[in-house]
Amino acid sequence: MDLFEYQARDVFEKHGVPVLRGIVATTPAEARAAAEQLGGGTVVVKAQVKTGGRGKAGGVKLAHSPEEAETHASAILGMDIKGHTVHRVMIAEGAKIAEEYYFSVLLDRSNRSYLAMASVEGGMEIEELAVERPEALARVAVDPVVGIDAAKAAEIVAQAGFAPEVADEVAAVIEKLWTVYKEEDATLVEVNPLVRTEGGAIVALDGKVTLDENAGFRHADHAELEDKAAADPLEAKAKAAGLNYVKLDGEVGIIGNGAGLVMSTLDVVAYAGEQHGVRPANFLDIGGGADANIMASGLDVILGDPQVKSVFVNVFGGITACDQVASGIVQALDILGDKESKPLVVRLDGNNVVEGRRILNEANHPLVTLVDTMDEAAAKAAELAAAK
Ligand SMILES: Nc1ncnc2c1ncn2[C@@H]1O[C@H](COP(=O)(O)OP(=O)(O)OP(=O)(O)O)[C@@H](O)[C@H]1O
Ligand SMILES: [Mg+2]
Repeated sequence: MDLFEYQARDVFEKHGVPVLRGIVATTPAEARAAAEQLGGGTVVVKAQVKTGGRGKAGGVKLAHSPEEAETHASAILGMDIKGHTVHRVMIAEGAKIAEEYYFSVLLDRSNRSYLAMASVEGGMEIEELAVERPEALARVAVDPVVGIDAAKAAEIVAQAGFAPEVADEVAAVIEKLWTVYKEEDATLVEVNPLVRTEGGAIVALDGKVTLDENAGFRHADHAELEDKAAADPLEAKAKAAGLNYVKLDGEVGIIGNGAGLVMSTLDVVAYAGEQHGVRPANFLDIGGGADANIMASGLDVILGDPQVKSVFVNVFGGITACDQVASGIVQALDILGDKESKPLVVRLDGNNVVEGRRILNEANHPLVTLVDTMDEAAAKAAELAAAK
């Protein structure tokens, strides 16, 4: 999960990384009030969107008075930056910048370690710097067991060529940024720019933080950082029901139990769909113990996607046997009632398959087609989706 800059600022502050005061505003009037609250002097109005290059796009503007902050906020709010609409701005205290640096630490999967990067040439796009002047970007591997201690921070600072006057202080800030990375279970902490102010302080002026959602169980406070407004409503609904759901672009909805089965179902539907010009519409794994309610939630999510024209329910009975799944489907169709109007192709196999099929045959629901094999079922679902 990527954080907004203002959220990263708060997390930095919590761990003692030096930041400037910042207040979020969602209207120009709020922006003006925020600027007044910050003392009425120079502030920066910054678009809060989860994408880079905000400054270049006109989303970061200096304001010398609360009136000017209001004017800039009204221009920036609602602006589109690389497909992201600006719903909030942060009014940040203005810094008198003497120098701009760069620092980041991230997960380096290929080397099974962490990687710290630092440069005394911050501010610009780091991707450009890495290509044009790679020697100006220090890359230092970080042992995951040791992390960034004082010695490692000194190594990073030395390799990046920080001037002796600032080296110690920058190293101290880097150690704090490592604390953010570690304590918050982040996979990325990036500061661009880290600045030296005219007064000689080292301050993080911009922050990008990505949190590892797999570690969410350790962080009760991370849930509220989620941008619920931006989440796809169907994905949010599925998440609330505890289902693994990924929306894709096609027409055939897929429900299965177990990630492996769902993935191979995607493949057979993609293959069968080629003939008919249709593709899988999603990935929905109802997991191992799928009872009627879970099946109903799953169907409800999938049928809620207007792009879905047919649904393929592919279940391999294991701990939850086929007869339970079949009863679940019948009950789910009852629960959904008239909402259900799209054809369902069901393929059951595994534990208690004979009884499962008997239950579905007996229910004889007009929208359900029972098919024996996965390939045939995929072909049928694709054909039905194409016919709609
Ligand atoms: N609080 C501030 N005071 C003074 N100048 C600032 C402040 N915040 C940002 N700036 C200036 O604006 C530039 C761009 O700001 P920032 O890094 O936050 O946005 P960006 O780099 O354009 O966005 P992104 O990081 O999303 O690409 C900075 O390099 C810095 O020169
Ligand atoms: Mg930046």
